[in-house]
Amino acid sequence: MGTPAGIDSIAASSGEAAPGTAAQPESTAACPSAAATGAPARIALAGVHGFGTHHLRNLGRLQAAGAVDLVAVADPQPPAPGSVPPSAAVHTGLEDLLAATADLDVVIVATPIQTHAPLALAALATDAALYLEKPPVASLADYNRLLDVSAASGHGVQIGFQSLGSHALAAIREQLAAGTLGTLEGISATGRWVRDRAYYKRSRWAGKRSINGVDVVDGVATNPLAHAVATALRIAGARTTADVASVETELYRANDIESDDTSVIRIRTTAGLPITCALTICAAESVEPYVTLHGSSGTAVFHYTEDRLVVETAAGRTEETYGRDDLAENLLAHRTAGVPLLSSLRDSGAFMLVLEAVRTAPLPTPIGAGHVRWEGEGEAAHAVVAGIEEALERAGREHLTFSELGLPWAVSAPTSFPVPAA
Ligand SMILES: NC(=O)c1ccc[n+]([C@@H]2O[C@H](COP(=O)([O-])OP(=O)(O)OC[C@H]3O[C@@H](n4cnc5c(N)ncnc54)[C@H](O)[C@@H]3O)[C@@H](O)[C@H]2O)c1
Repeated sequence: MGTPAGIDSIAASSGEAAPGTAAQPESTAACPSAAATGAPARIALAGVHGFGTHHLRNLGRLQAAGAVDLVAVADPQPPAPGSVPPSAAVHTGLEDLLAATADLDVVIVATPIQTHAPLALAALATDAALYLEKPPVASLADYNRLLDVSAASGHGVQIGFQSLGSHALAAIREQLAAGTLGTLEGISATGRWVRDRAYYKRSRWAGKRSINGVDVVDGVATNPLAHAVATALRIAGARTTADVASVETELYRANDIESDDTSVIRIRTTAGLPITCALTICAAESVEPYVTLHGSSGTAVFHYTEDRLVVETAAGRTEETYGRDDLAENLLAHRTAGVPLLSSLRDSGAFMLVLEAVRTAPLPTPIGAGHVRWEGEGEAAHAVVAGIEEALERAGREHLTFSELGLPWAVSAPTSFPVPAA
């Protein structure tokens, strides 16, 4: 503890709020069609339901501005009437779409986690850049393969951690550089959301660790609250696999699922900074998740879904809400002008070590029925773990797992993940 880690690595790495400054872009390949002609970028989207609807809305905004042309979509389920532009071709799969569509600038993949690796590889076999939803892929082996292929292709790959586009990250960097918080001693990520039974019934991969031997890794830290982990890592300056020294996991579940829904992930960066992520989707009430910087003379709390930063020191309390760069626009600017990516595939390496630690950890420990109450009826019922709010706060503040805190339901122990040499 006491290492002023984070600040140097944040300052030295590609600046999320200062694109075009000292940072090195992942790829400087420019798009000849859009760059030279100013024509709208030709976009394809795989996955039009679920989170794909968010992409459709965003692409609608960019299309109205003349920046993009959504030329084709792929989904085994047809799009809802009127949800895609009439000019967009509709395919049932990405392979068909790619075979039928020339000169794509960007392919967006917003499909179930277990499909990311094959669809991303298919997209990178074209001349298009790739926007790949989080988590990037479901294993470290697939991540390394994708990284090699993307490097060979020269095309940018953006990962959909949209919180990494927040301008609050630059403000945090400035606070650290100015010494407002004193020495940065640790970072915590706290997530307490509510997810009901219907959430786990919406798709066949929901709550799965694998399907027929194919990794899925749909746990609380790797899917619903993955942004909490990714944002904490980014603030700590941990971007690539080389930036992480250790990862420990302690995984539990209150729901009747394969994967974890209530977990502590404890990370130490190679610069020596501890990061503790205490996460659940079994809270009594949903609260927007936050990343806390614990300094020797103050704290900064980043509510990343709201771009809101609260700083408390002896001098008082400040609260500010910031803007955010859109990751699709950033990928287009990367392709046409070499602007650094805000959430590149390479910079998701630290996150992928966490995912691999979760993937290879023992099965999550069920939380005893006596410590779980169910609120609501039928499919709308959701589990609430007794005392979870205080447990998350203490875990983050003290960098302890639930068993180390001595909680009555925490009968597991931390599992140490052997971080491979970078
Ligand atoms: N960035 C975020 O904030 C955020 C939020 C939610 C979900 N996500 C991510 O988005 C992705 C999709 O999640 P979801 O909950 O929308 O999943 P989902 O199961 O609802 O599926 C999304 C769509 O993909 C389609 N699909 C399935 N297989 C396909 C294939 N091979 N080719 C084309 N389409 C296919 C499905 O039919 C569905 O329409 C996941 O990676 C998830 O983690 C990101």
